[in-house]
Amino acid sequence: MKINGVPHRSVRVHDDGRSVVIFDQTRLPWAVEELVLPDEDAVAEAIRSMKVRGAPLIGAVGAYGLAMALRRDPSVENLERSAAMLNETRPTAVNLRWALDRICTAVRNHPPERRADAAYAEAAAICDDDVETNRKIGEHGLPLLREIAARKPPGEPVRILTHCNAGWIATVDFGTALSPIYQAHDEGMNVHVWVDETRPRNQGAALTAWELGAHGVPHALVADNAGGHLMQHGMVDIVFVGTDRVTRNGDVANKIGTYLKALAAKDNGVPFWVALPHSTLDMSVRDGVREIPIEERSGTEVTDTTGRLPDGTIATVRVAAEGTVAANPAFDVTPARLVTGLITERGRCEASEAGLASLYPEKA
Ligand code: MRU
Repeated sequence: MKINGVPHRSVRVHDDGRSVVIFDQTRLPWAVEELVLPDEDAVAEAIRSMKVRGAPLIGAVGAYGLAMALRRDPSVENLERSAAMLNETRPTAVNLRWALDRICTAVRNHPPERRADAAYAEAAAICDDDVETNRKIGEHGLPLLREIAARKPPGEPVRILTHCNAGWIATVDFGTALSPIYQAHDEGMNVHVWVDETRPRNQGAALTAWELGAHGVPHALVADNAGGHLMQHGMVDIVFVGTDRVTRNGDVANKIGTYLKALAAKDNGVPFWVALPHSTLDMSVRDGVREIPIEERSGTEVTDTTGRLPDGTIATVRVAAEGTVAANPAFDVTPARLVTGLITERGRCEASEAGLASLYPEKA
């Protein structure tokens, strides 16, 4: 996607041929700052602190982290130790484990002196695959928006609600849930996006609203709790969200609050669609509610919030009384029965074992 007319990917290899360059997402939307990650420890820290985030992107950056580790020490012991260290940084999105496994498989049979090059090549392939996958997700989601647009009186927008950030900055490019929206806007469709602010870290306010604004897509930021009201009053035509892990039976882990949106959508007859790349599928898990590990993050993300002061400085301020204890589960699981369908790079399917098997027979 473009920033000020210049095409960018969310991760690229530095000119030194070794480090990777990312956008520091903790600085957005106030500043577009690149950050160089020179080694696997810097990659791990950037993922943990959410300077890079979004399921597909942490997979891609984690893959480069493992390549950097191999450049330093190509032994199998270091490969396994570094993969385990990177994998522990964030537990819910399965894309990280998927990408690290892909690197391990790609390098294991090479002699030590060839392993780092093989890992960099595989990480680049993961990035290219993500870009093409997300472009296709856009193509397969677009007809859903076209169908709604065809039923609308002239001049009325297709109104989409989204949660968290499943845009280009959460992936290598194009995004997942936002990909069909970008394609719809680019073909001239009248779309309007309700953007959940997504407390506690405000990925909707800071990232999705910034992305959509930069691309010229009409949108309005809403408090997380507004979605039910908007749906009740017929102001949402469809919900599009991304996901961090989809189980064999179609359960969906995504940013905390997604489940409540799915409940409200069900109660109001609003279609609730989930966009995912193949790297987000975890066929080893059946019952998402019981089996997907839910990341518990620091309570300070709830008691505090970060923003820009009138003098331009970025500051974190406390919003809860001193001494308040906070809990911070970062994800929830939406059971498959609340999901209208899944949008993948291979097409759309029911959120069920049979649906997923129809698109991914080799994984079934
Ligand atoms: O904690 P985050 O910001 O990494 O969580 C991101 C989400 O939950 C996204 O919706 C998900 O990763 C899909 S990204 C295409």
